[in-house]
Order: sequence, then structure tokens, then C-alpha cells
Amino acid sequence: MTATSAPADLNALEAELIGEIDRAENLGAIEQVRIGALGKKGRVSELMSQLGKLAPEDRKAFGAAVNQLKTTVTNALESRKSVLEEAALSARLANERADVTLPVRLGPQAEGRIHPVSQVWDEVTEIFADMGFAVAEGPDIETDDLNFTKLNIPPEHPARQEHDTFYLSPRADGSRMVLRTHTSPVQIRTMLSQRPPIRIIAPGRVYRSDSDQTHTPMFHQIEGLVIDEETHLGHLKWCLEEFCKAFFEVDEVKMRFRASHFPFTEPSMEVDVDAAAIGKPGRWLEILGSGMVHPNVIRACGLDPEKYQGFAFGMGLDRITMLKYGIPDLRDMFSADMRWLRHFGFLPFDVPTLAGGVSS
Ligand code: DAH
Repeated sequence: MTATSAPADLNALEAELIGEIDRAENLGAIEQVRIGALGKKGRVSELMSQLGKLAPEDRKAFGAAVNQLKTTVTNALESRKSVLEEAALSARLANERADVTLPVRLGPQAEGRIHPVSQVWDEVTEIFADMGFAVAEGPDIETDDLNFTKLNIPPEHPARQEHDTFYLSPRADGSRMVLRTHTSPVQIRTMLSQRPPIRIIAPGRVYRSDSDQTHTPMFHQIEGLVIDEETHLGHLKWCLEEFCKAFFEVDEVKMRFRASHFPFTEPSMEVDVDAAAIGKPGRWLEILGSGMVHPNVIRACGLDPEKYQGFAFGMGLDRITMLKYGIPDLRDMFSADMRWLRHFGFLPFDVPTLAGGVSS
């Protein structure tokens, strides 16, 4: 650049820089233009450094012209920058706008539901825990011996047919494991591993090859077992009556103990509750099987039946859940339908306690 061509160049440079400024699409681009023009090595700044090469009489005019250019470019940068800043802000506001008319989205604590069977599992556990029962467990895949033989159901016993058992493939020694058909093997496991006095309940899943409106291949039972030196039938009746009052949340229940037969108890009783407990008087509802533990069972567990005695019971959890909460079809319990669960399910923080009423 020479001194004589300077004024023309300044006009051209101004036009060029203004063009660049106008075309800058964002704040990053505008900063690049600023550095290219006004930065230390920028095109406008460099003009100033040429001032010394000019004839003294030209310096004043050229200096003033460059300063004017600097002011023009600075102003243009500023105004373009504020336009871009405003556009960026509007874009952000449009983007991040909260639509206050949208419904509140509930978190998992409010949205999740406890399955009625889980709820009743907890209710029953709470009630028996209060009576001093511990919770025992056993595996879903059980030996034939514990599921049947030690419960006084030897290999050719007809009760085996009644259970519609799922058998696993035979093992090398020819024995077959089963999906437990009831929670009663937990009685055996407990008597084999603990010394009396024993007082346990065992809730769990059980399996039978059966399916219709009131049967599913998997369902839930709760087993109870009391073994010591003096527990008798009167204790069994008291215990079940207290349970029914707490479970159905009523002051009085009418119960009926019907003589029955199970291989592992003698005598055996099936227990019915007057449906008044669920607000429908006039009908009997069968809720469980029970009895005094058979001496053969006590003996099979290595205990002396002359010394030890006690009672046992087995209750269908799904059945008492349907009764208490008015659920019409057993199969819906396992259909994983969210609409069903929202209707019949329980809020996760409503933990059953005796003090608060087990179901509220
Ligand atoms: N295990 C029996 C069943 O699944 C139920 C049962 C009846 C369990 C009487 C018991 C009992 O402990 O004493 O059908």
C-alpha cells in the first residue's frame, strides 16, 4: 500500500470489512472479523503502523481517515454483534421454553405399583412375624425326596398324581428334580436344619401343570410350621383365627374346621372363613389346609415323634389376595397388564404394618 493510493484503499477496505461483518452468521464469526480488522496484526491496525512512512503533510489527513475507518468498523461490529446476540437469545428462549400447560410428569415413586400378591405376601409376613414366626425359604427346584417322600408321600402314593408335577430331566443316577408343587418341603428343610422349638412361615412360588380361570401353572403359597413339645390343635385354631382377623381387618371371624386328609398331617383339617369377613355373608370360603404334623414326617427329619409335635398349614396366597381385594380372575394376576396393576396395585410407600392396618 502506498501513501498516494491510501484514501481509495480505505474506502475499498471499509466496504470489504462492512461486507464481512454483514455476512457473519454468529458470534464466533464476528470475532474472527474483528481480529482480522482491529486485532494487533489486523488490517486497520497495520495501516496505522504505515503512518511513519508518509510525508509529514499527509500524515494528519491519513491518520484521521484511518481513525474514522476504525470507528466505522468498530460501530458496525458492535451493532452486528448485538443483532446476533439477540438472535441467539431468542433462539435459546424458543428452544428452552417450558410449556407450563403440560401435565406434571410423575416420578417412579408415584407411578410404580406393588403387585397385590406382593402386598399380601408382606401383609401375611407382618401378621405372623408379630406372633413370633420367622421367615424360612427353600428353592423352587426341589428334590423328589423333599417335595414328596419325606412328607409321607412315598413313590407310589396317589397324592403324587394329584399334584400335576413338572419334572426335570432325570439326572445321571436316575433321580429327577421337580418344580416344587407346594411350599411344604420347606417344613422338611427347616426340621432338618434347626432344633425345636420351631416357628416358621415360608411364602413362595409353587408350580403345577394346570391352567384355567382358577389355576395357573405358577402360583403362590404360604406354609406355616410350629414344632415343640406341647403345641396342640387348640393352638393351631387360635393362631389361624388371629391371623384371619388381622388379615381381613375385622374384629370377629366365623371359621369352620372341616376334617380332611393330607399325607403329612394327622388329623388334617381344611379351614373355611365366613365370607362376612369380606362383606359377603352367607357363604363359606375355603382358605387353607392344615393339621398336626404326621409322626412319620417328624421321624423322617430325625426328630423323635414321641417327644416333638406341632402343627402345619398351607395357604394359597393368590386365593386370599383375590378374596380380600375382590380380584375376579386369577390369570390376570400374571398378565403384566399395566391397566390392571394401576387398578389393583398398591403405592410403594404404603408398607403393611399392624399399627397402620395391614392394607392401608
Ligand atoms: N401342601 C398342601 C397343598 O399344597 C397344603 C397343606 C395342607 C400344607 C396341609 C400343610 C398342611 O402344611 O398341613 O395342597
